[in-house]
Amino acid sequence: MAVPFVEDWDLVQTLGEGAYGEVQLAVNRRTEEAVAVKIVDMKRAAECPDDVRKEICIHKMLSHEHVVRFYGHRREGATHYLFLEYCSGGELFDRIEPDVGMPEAEAQRFFQQLIAGVVYLHGLGITHRDLKPENLLLDERDNLKISDFGLATVFKHNGRERRLSRMCGTLPYVAPELLRRGPFRAEPADLWACGIVLTAMLAGELPWDQPSDACQEYSDWKERKTYLPPWKKIDSAPLALLRKMLAESPAARATVADVAQDRWYCRPARRPGREAGGKRARAASPGGLGKQARSHAHLPPAEGPLSEEQTSYSTSQPEPGTGGAPWDSGAGGSERPARGISFSQPARPEHMLLNSQLLGTPGSSQSPWQRLVKRMTRFFTKLDAACSYRALKEVCERMGYGWKRSCTNQVTISTTDRRNNQLVFKVNLLQMESRILVDFRLSKGDGLEFKRHFLKIKGELGDVVSAHRLWLPPS
Ligand code: ADE
Repeated sequence: MAVPFVEDWDLVQTLGEGAYGEVQLAVNRRTEEAVAVKIVDMKRAAECPDDVRKEICIHKMLSHEHVVRFYGHRREGATHYLFLEYCSGGELFDRIEPDVGMPEAEAQRFFQQLIAGVVYLHGLGITHRDLKPENLLLDERDNLKISDFGLATVFKHNGRERRLSRMCGTLPYVAPELLRRGPFRAEPADLWACGIVLTAMLAGELPWDQPSDACQEYSDWKERKTYLPPWKKIDSAPLALLRKMLAESPAARATVADVAQDRWYCRPARRPGREAGGKRARAASPGGLGKQARSHAHLPPAEGPLSEEQTSYSTSQPEPGTGGAPWDSGAGGSERPARGISFSQPARPEHMLLNSQLLGTPGSSQSPWQRLVKRMTRFFTKLDAACSYRALKEVCERMGYGWKRSCTNQVTISTTDRRNNQLVFKVNLLQMESRILVDFRLSKGDGLEFKRHFLKIKGELGDVVSAHRLWLPPS
């Protein structure tokens, strides 16, 4: 996509895509400051032109250590650019190993940070309405940040709470009262989604498609059949918390105050090495609302060591309004369409990746851009581009996937997941120095299912896959 843009900032990598448009990583050519740019195409979001305005209006009010910072915005014709804090640790869902989850201490720490962010939002009278691991990002210190306020709304103003009736969110994460039409309270619904996120972190799977009686897994949960998965994978202490958070009646459901007093939530973090998972487990901050998530209490990720380079790129986040930033349009007028700025064609990611200055880092065949975002859904092959493409096509066709070449280096793969929901992902083949990087990105569907399919395809490719590791999630 050709994007008109301002001088000095290059769009170097796609960070995510959605129905609205996409999120790109923008890096300042001089200072190497990095920001995420959410590009919303109003032609695609035409049915709800007010949604992006509402997102901007809400997001710009927010300032919290566990909420993605909003730096500013611009509009060019029908396209909105939202400039956001760049989270180099990627999405929380990339830390969840399918069917396994993550070490309990790590889940506890992420959960404490999530609750801290939710408490902040609710305190301002704002509900997110789409909390899920894909919308929870991690910074370079693995601190969790709530992102994407596209569905957020105000539920309390001047101390007066209003009930909501719009059904929105993502089915496996929505609370049961949403499916029963009629007004419902915002806070218990967000808390329910936090309970589903915690389940995903501890078990590596979602408990149900949707919390309705037509769904057997949900009925089993209500009948307390916790000898079944995912519950049987979860220790009794966090399971007791989940029981309170995933109570069907919103009135009976745990509130944030109840969560703050929960035994597991407050339990001091176990030191790495003591718990199962041992050396890979990370230190968690002590419990207690408002105090959790002290970044100095956290160890850096065990894998994919934060190189100097990565840290310097990813920690370099611009201060709002320091001048020279693409969202600075004169007298703080970021609400108005931009005028008087010079546009340049953004550097194409491929060009950045193949730029010799960015490659050849000693001891690694990754470019700094590749190391910026940790994702497990990619691998190097041992073959050249044409053979890698052929091998992937053959495996995918044999496995019954839909296969469509989108452009020279990209294919779109489609299937239905084990719950019969549509799953679409894109695969890019990138030349990295002399090798081929096969990079998978979810386009539509459940993130955990996507990773299961990624692992299956990777397994089928056998020794076409190079043993060289880019980054592995803790396991
Ligand atoms: N994907 C979507 N938003 C992002 C952000 N702010 N940082 C990194 N990746 C993202």
